[in-house]
Amino acid sequence: MGRGIAARLSAAGVPTLLGSRQLERAVAALARIGSSFRGLQAVSNSDVVDRCDLVFLAVPFASVADVLQTYRGRLRPGTVLVDVTVPLRFEQGMARFEPPPEGSAAEHIRAHLPTEIGLAATFKTLPAPLLGRAAEPLDCDEFICGDSPESTARARAALDRIATLRMVDVGGLEAACALEHMTALAITVNKRHKVRAARFRVVGL
Ligand SMILES: NC(=O)c1ccc[n+]([C@@H]2O[C@H](COP(=O)([O-])OP(=O)(O)OC[C@H]3O[C@@H](n4cnc5c(N)ncnc54)[C@H](OP(=O)(O)O)[C@@H]3O)[C@@H](O)[C@H]2O)c1
Repeated sequence: MGRGIAARLSAAGVPTLLGSRQLERAVAALARIGSSFRGLQAVSNSDVVDRCDLVFLAVPFASVADVLQTYRGRLRPGTVLVDVTVPLRFEQGMARFEPPPEGSAAEHIRAHLPTEIGLAATFKTLPAPLLGRAAEPLDCDEFICGDSPESTARARAALDRIATLRMVDVGGLEAACALEHMTALAITVNKRHKVRAARFRVVGL
């Protein structure tokens, strides 16, 4: 997901840092994206939190606690964190949503973030492989919610620049539970219909 987000944002002209725990892994990920995007740099996760005020959290949900523990005190005041994580358990190839006590990954993360850091949640229903093929249109909608209209707007200022994606604002973080259920639904659609990039479109909007 991180590689795809970085590719799409930089293709849209947003200066982007692609982070990893190990710089060499970020460099390797950048090589997989290709060097055609200006303004895209491979760095360490520490560099990301030191230099960015819009930071995407794209790690397995099981590692969120560790990642927050390591970096939450270092995020710059006024930063908006964008959560794309989904707590899923895979059982016989099927994905099940396993929410934390707060009800969703996004609400869990909000509960563990300093108040001066904003939170938006999105890209929960976009398939990573398609996201990574930045030359292909996404041709879908993606839902976004946030802990305030300002957090959502800050994330949208970057994401609205992805031309083939329509962002659909669904309000506060209480919507995240539904979005995270929809991730499991998209995986089910992929499996049952033997496709790889099922995603959503809202009609009548
Ligand atoms: N895959 C999808 O289609 C999709 C769609 C929607 C949402 N999501 C959600 O998006 C998140 C990322 O998905 P993904 O498929 O990109 O996951 P992934 O490939 O399993 O992991 C992404 C990166 O997280 C870092 N990471 C792994 N364990 C870590 C740890 N213990 N501490 C810190 N960093 C760690 C690794 O980067 P480094 O080793 O380079 O640091 C890894 O490359 C997940 O929560 C997933 O549920 C996925």
